[in-house]
Amino acid sequence: MRMRRIKWAVEYLPTSSSLIKEPEQLKGKWKEFLQTDRLHLEIGCGKGGYSAAMASLYPEEGFIALEYNDSAAGVAAKKFDEIKGHKPVLLWKNAAYVTDWFGENEVDVIHLNFSDPWPKHRTAKRRLSSPRFLEQYKSILAPNGEVQMKTDNEDLFAYSLLAFQDAGFRMDDVTLNFRKEPHDEDPMTEYEAKFVAQGHPIYRCVWKRNK
Ligand SMILES: C[S@@+](CC[C@H](N)C(=O)[O-])C[C@H]1O[C@@H](n2cnc3c(N)ncnc32)[C@H](O)[C@@H]1O
Repeated sequence: MRMRRIKWAVEYLPTSSSLIKEPEQLKGKWKEFLQTDRLHLEIGCGKGGYSAAMASLYPEEGFIALEYNDSAAGVAAKKFDEIKGHKPVLLWKNAAYVTDWFGENEVDVIHLNFSDPWPKHRTAKRRLSSPRFLEQYKSILAPNGEVQMKTDNEDLFAYSLLAFQDAGFRMDDVTLNFRKEPHDEDPMTEYEAKFVAQGHPIYRCVWKRNK
């Protein structure tokens, strides 16, 4: 699933004040840096709409949005830079190395929103809910921490349910039609708004780190 290259966004990205260029220097210090007691990490944030809306909803909490595609990250960067109030920071990185930038027990909530399904067997290890990612999430999550996952993709959802269980997470919540009821506490992502408009059900699950 390759995104069209957005030239202005790619050029804008390195100039952004929201972009954290050396996140390894903040490993273990994110809460102090963002002046919060509760840290959220959105992995695969795309154009950043979800983290931006969450930061506005929860001004006491800290939001870090991570994205590896330069066009999407550039759009997110500009969006964050233009926010006047409480805003997320951005990491332009591959989540495969997330333990390089976050210490043990540091993150309270990881958000996986409409992750790429990578349907072919040979690319399954790129799924953000595949075992090598889940092992890293366990390490950076606080003892009471959780992963919140939303998707419209039934196969990815079924795969992820087993993967989380196999990795020793404890299921805290599951719903097969999340947007059937209003959820003002959880903004829609860019992808989610499109799928909901097309009438797709949204699957959601919440997994606690089992300590
Ligand atoms: C289908 S899009 C969803 C974007 C957004 N979360 C939404 O719901 O609108 C998935 C995003 O995850 C990003 N992504 C996938 N694997 C990633 C990885 N290993 N590290 C960082 N970003 C990743 C992709 O570049 C893409 O922007």
